[in-house]
Amino acid sequence: MEGLHLTILFLLSLTVVHSISPKCDLPSQGSTLRVYHVSSPCSPFRPKTALSWEESVLQMQADDKTRLMYLTSLVAGRSFVPIGSGRQIIQSPTYIVKASIGTPAQSLLMALDTSADMALVPCAGCVGCSSSTYDSAKSASFSSLTCGADQCKQVQTSSCPGTTCSLNMTYGGSTLAATLAQDNLTLATDPVIGYSFGCIKQVTGGSFPPQGVLGLSRGPLSFISQSKSLYTSTFSYCLPSFKSSNFSGTLRLGQFGQPKGINYTPLLTNPKRPSLYYVNLLGVKVGSTMVNIPASALAFNPNTGGGTIVDSGTVFTRLVDGAYTAVRDEFRRRMGTAAVTSLGGFDTCYNVPVGKQVPTITFMFAGLNMTLPPDNFLIHSSSGATTCLAMSASPAVNVIANMQQQNHRLVFDVANNRLGVSREICS
Ligand SMILES: *[C@@H]1O[C@H](CO)[C@@H](O)[C@H](O)[C@H]1NC(C)=O
Ligand SMILES: *[C@@H]1O[C@H](CO)[C@@H](O)[C@H](O)[C@H]1NC(C)=O
Ligand SMILES: *[C@@H]1O[C@H](CO)[C@@H](O)[C@H](O)[C@H]1NC(C)=O
Ligand SMILES: *[C@@H]1O[C@H](CO)[C@@H](O)[C@H](O)[C@H]1NC(C)=O
Repeated sequence: MEGLHLTILFLLSLTVVHSISPKCDLPSQGSTLRVYHVSSPCSPFRPKTALSWEESVLQMQADDKTRLMYLTSLVAGRSFVPIGSGRQIIQSPTYIVKASIGTPAQSLLMALDTSADMALVPCAGCVGCSSSTYDSAKSASFSSLTCGADQCKQVQTSSCPGTTCSLNMTYGGSTLAATLAQDNLTLATDPVIGYSFGCIKQVTGGSFPPQGVLGLSRGPLSFISQSKSLYTSTFSYCLPSFKSSNFSGTLRLGQFGQPKGINYTPLLTNPKRPSLYYVNLLGVKVGSTMVNIPASALAFNPNTGGGTIVDSGTVFTRLVDGAYTAVRDEFRRRMGTAAVTSLGGFDTCYNVPVGKQVPTITFMFAGLNMTLPPDNFLIHSSSGATTCLAMSASPAVNVIANMQQQNHRLVFDVANNRLGVSREICS
């Protein structure tokens, strides 16, 4: 309860407008905690001046572009990516949760990132962080990790100019310098004692989220691995629509309360990138039509990194060229004769009202069909005058992104190497 109280104070202190919906303060229940969209009215990180619809779509596309560069670099096993434009793009990771860290507990908000391993926390004194929320000097349970620690050896980019384990890394278009530290981390009710994370000392470039990152991948330093004894390597989330003002998205930790009787698809492991959640996408249907996609566009290939990953931080789904073109062409065919226009990276937009002719789109995974209603792939301007198919082409890997995941519960059952999906309205 004390943690909750601090969280509310923290939110209020950072929130410009205080008259926010009372639903923002909903407490976590057991092992289930709230998930917020980063630009929702409950988020202190939302843009200060509201963007127009078009601006926000272009912004999300720009964030995705940086994100995709980052994911592609992971897939290809390169450790550095070019630095993106210097302007301050707010976060690629789009959904945040409240956490607390240290003794006594300090509150912070963290972005969910299913493709990252280590948690990264902006630490007091950080140069270039947009907010610095964790002060290790005020925590009785803080300790820094030395070069000899096992955790230090698990970080590929670590180096040891002194005795403290230090690391430099890129994240999206940002570079950051951190030291490896430990403190208690609490997401729901139970603390994970001695949680190892990167304490950020310096950030350059604009794509690092100001609130820090909670890595939910399968890597050795991820939350999944470090909280294994509490949550048995299982979590699920339901992401609310980014338009939603209801804030009922949740992150649920552990096996308790997960949906029963749902379909699962196996999680595939790329030994070169063991932390990414690869799945086996077998095909795509538009309406009831099976789209003719070259097998190579979907094939899982650990050597090239090809295949399909599920990612919480990319907004709009990407399909490699051959797959995207085939899906888009079938979608256009179903939409009839209305003129096709474009908006930034979206090449299939309509400036006329669309309605009954909109087909569903089904991602067919091994063992699991995910049939999306139009809300999961059409983005409408506020006036309703423009509608776009919110997907685009990818250079290297197919990414099932968060708009396509909204209002579904995704169960990451890492213990059994499988991913479950069920429809759940949480907007
Ligand atoms: C943090 O961990 C220490 C053990 O290292 C424990 O004594 C302390 O109670 C924990 N603090 C919280 C807030 O859970
Ligand atoms: C990280 O980068 C900074 C600035 O470029 C450099 O001074 C420092 O030595 C680097 N640290 C490590 C651990 O590589
Ligand atoms: C919020 O939830 C209520 C019922 O729980 C629903 O009727 C309403 O449409 C939702 N609003 C949005 C914007 O999703
Ligand atoms: C998915 O859909 C395909 C084609 O409609 C069907 O053959 C298959 O059995 C479905 N798979 C599951 C797990 O429902």
